Amino acid sequence: MSERTIRVWDLPTRLFHWLLFVLMVAAIVAAKVGGNAMEWHGRLGHLIFGLIVFRLVWGVVGSTTARFTHFVRGPGAIRAYLQGRWRGIGHNPLGALSVLALLALTGFQATTGLFANDDIAFRGPLAALVSTDASNLLSDWHRQAEWFIYGLVGLHVAAVLYYAHVRGDNLVKPMVVGRKAVTDPALESARGGGLIAFAAAVVIAGAALWATSGALVPPPPPPPPALGW
Ligand code: HEM
Ligand code: HEM
Repeated sequence: MSERTIRVWDLPTRLFHWLLFVLMVAAIVAAKVGGNAMEWHGRLGHLIFGLIVFRLVWGVVGSTTARFTHFVRGPGAIRAYLQGRWRGIGHNPLGALSVLALLALTGFQATTGLFANDDIAFRGPLAALVSTDASNLLSDWHRQAEWFIYGLVGLHVAAVLYYAHVRGDNLVKPMVVGRKAVTDPALESARGGGLIAFAAAVVIAGAALWATSGALVPPPPPPPPALGW
């Protein structure tokens, strides 16, 4: 059978993935350093929030393999995949569950962070919108979710290594270069996700970043006037 290369991942999906990876590592390092680095933790975490919004929009307007309707499948498709009857490109029906979990958990972490406080000097830009109790609760969830992130990312990397070493399928290369060599004549390159779709996703993510930056939070009331004696 003749081999040819097809497009699996568009550039925005690949940029999203590797930027997410770099920003996640940097945000966690900044949180561990603490102190003044918390300002950086907040900025990096906020950028991650914007990336997730971008990916959600790209999951609707991006190229075929990036779309949720393409890779989120029911139990029937998962069973077919487990029985070796699945043919396709992009996330397989089982891997799609881990993709959804990674996106949901990262989105949860970035969103709770916006309302969190570190009990010292740093507060997320939206913390003033909720009561102190609510901000403390969201900070607890934010700290606890750390361990779920390590677990899920560990599983994710373990799955990638399993595919490479046990099944002989290198998933990392297509996530870097976008293309993959295939022999199955039925497989086709991803289509769509042009410049206009990309611009729309960037504008929506930018608007979400601005709306959650604290620019819309009313300033705190002025302190009471000093007594005149
Ligand atoms: C903070 C760490 C990481 C997070 C949060 C993360 C998250 C994700 C997400 C959300 C996707 C789905 C991509 C999409 O459709 O937009 C994905 C796919 C992928 N990731 Fe990661 N990732 C991380 C680290 C890594 C690392 C270190 C590697 C390399 C060893 C890796 C390799 C891959 C590959 C190969 C895919 C495509 C899988 C497939 O072909 O279905 N990831 N990752
Ligand atoms: C996905 C993105 C994020 C990740 C992975 C993340 C991760 C973490 C981790 C691991 C900690 C605990 C550090 C420790 O005490 O050892 C932490 C604390 C914290 N993060 Fe984030 N964070 C993210 C987004 C954000 C955002 C967007 C903000 C606010 C703008 C934020 C604000 C905080 C605050 C205030 C704390 C201290 C919480 C406390 O001490 O109770 N984080 N974050």
